[in-house]
Amino acid sequence: MCRIVVLISGHGSNLQALIDAEQRNELGGGHIVAVFSNRANAFGLERARKAGIPTGVLSHKDFPAREDFDAALMERIDAYRPDLVVLAGFMRILTPAFVHHYAGRLINIHPSLLPKYPGMNTHARAIAAGDAEHGATVHFVTEGVDEGPMILQGRVPVLPDDTPETLQQRVHAIEHQIYPEAVRMLCAQRMMAKTSP
Ligand code: GAR
Repeated sequence: MCRIVVLISGHGSNLQALIDAEQRNELGGGHIVAVFSNRANAFGLERARKAGIPTGVLSHKDFPAREDFDAALMERIDAYRPDLVVLAGFMRILTPAFVHHYAGRLINIHPSLLPKYPGMNTHARAIAAGDAEHGATVHFVTEGVDEGPMILQGRVPVLPDDTPETLQQRVHAIEHQIYPEAVRMLCAQRMMAKTSP
């Protein structure tokens, strides 16, 4: 089994795509063992509870410094002995200590064709630049924000009458395909490594 911990801050539609893929047995032996949020009202927590997955809330506001929050979160995550830590709309900048602790098993999805448009408002920026294509990137997390080796990208066209909202919807649909696929690949690799002599 490939043990997965998912971190969210909000809506959790990518979490839902991962839950659905696991239920269809399409996650390469991946099993979501816990979901953590830094916001108590994140809708994704409801999704996890409905799927019977243990949840936890750790508010960054309860900690004096970023380092303290990350250390506490690491402790909570490590209790679940994860093979993979999946950021799914987790809107926090992570400390180097956190990133190094999970090096090689910490992944993120970002709504742009990285290295284009790290940061926020990616859909509006792609439209303003007149791009013909936009999309999403799954990547390993390193110290830089929205950087790190790419695992998978999904592309969508930018249509002439697109608004940031319509483009976001199209990108979300591709995110829900590539994130489970990336997790499936990584879990399958992990399972092979565990069983090879
Ligand atoms: C997703 O579009 C994801 O790419 C983005 O947050 C959204 C979360 O949606 N992540 C980032 O911008 C990270 N820099 P969801 O909560 O419905 O999965």
